[in-house]
Amino acid sequence: MSKKIAIIGGGNLGSAIAEGLLKSKFCKASDIIITKRNTATLKGLGDRGVMVSSDNSEAVRRSEVVILAVKPYQVSEVLNSFKKQLNSKHILVSVVTGVLIKDLESAIVKKLPVCRAMPNTAIAIQQSMTCLSFNNAAADHIDLVNRLFSTLGKVAVINENLMDAATVLGACGTAYAMRYIRANIQGGIEIGFDAVTANLIAAQTVKGAAELLLEKGSHPEQEIDKVTTPKGCTIAGLNEMEHQGFSSSLIKGIATSYNKIVKG
Ligand SMILES: NC(=O)c1ccc[n+]([C@@H]2O[C@H](COP(=O)([O-])OP(=O)(O)OC[C@H]3O[C@@H](n4cnc5c(N)ncnc54)[C@H](OP(=O)(O)O)[C@@H]3O)[C@@H](O)[C@H]2O)c1
Repeated sequence: MSKKIAIIGGGNLGSAIAEGLLKSKFCKASDIIITKRNTATLKGLGDRGVMVSSDNSEAVRRSEVVILAVKPYQVSEVLNSFKKQLNSKHILVSVVTGVLIKDLESAIVKKLPVCRAMPNTAIAIQQSMTCLSFNNAAADHIDLVNRLFSTLGKVAVINENLMDAATVLGACGTAYAMRYIRANIQGGIEIGFDAVTANLIAAQTVKGAAELLLEKGSHPEQEIDKVTTPKGCTIAGLNEMEHQGFSSSLIKGIATSYNKIVKG
């Protein structure tokens, strides 16, 4: 990839994106410029050849792909710090939660390709689920951003009106999965395992279950059928979980998170 990438806001997410790009060899370290006001925390990336700066406009001037990774309340001020440097060579990619493409476009006051991306925290280990929405982007822009985030996990291109839903299912989803795993650990300890072993068994079992779906493209119920024998222990446990409202509580939780975003 010959295009230079500026990451504006080298915090948790911005640094994780830089780390992932380096590990996947998507681009050379010298093709990444990452900024924040206090650059001391970016020393590790700097030592590996990434350009570290506190000058947003210089970073944007030197790049073609601009990834905005600041907090939502910082967007307006930060865009103001570099919008003069934006021109037709750029694509703006925002990972900022809740800021609409139209608001980004009106803040930069220029007609540029804009992408909104919603990754999750597994981006730190290149296992993110990232949903992307584009406006004004040509096929080569879409392909470029798709390839970039594909080095950091899986990607789905969606309509922007599904971005709140993507936030719930893809980003909040990490927390829901953690609670599910934690409950398994608690149950595992009750039936005899120490906490460390229960953690390993619960996490690897969930990882394996997810990989079965991703690799085989099967439906969860097909995989459940393979585990449930008539009158067996799996179906007895599963049915008890359903009597206690397992699926219903998850669906209601997802809807509650979604309503919290859209209705406040
Ligand atoms: N974490 C996630 O998994 C995740 C997932 C999806 C979306 N998001 C979104 O991604 C964004 C970033 O999240 P985060 O967790 O990475 O937040 P964060 O750790 O607070 O990172 C934001 C960074 O922006 C820097 N910054 C602030 N003002 C700046 C300026 N004027 N110029 C350059 N850099 C500046 C801050 O560093 P200084 O104070 O040193 O400048 C800070 O390190 C948020 O909008 C969040 O909603 C996060």
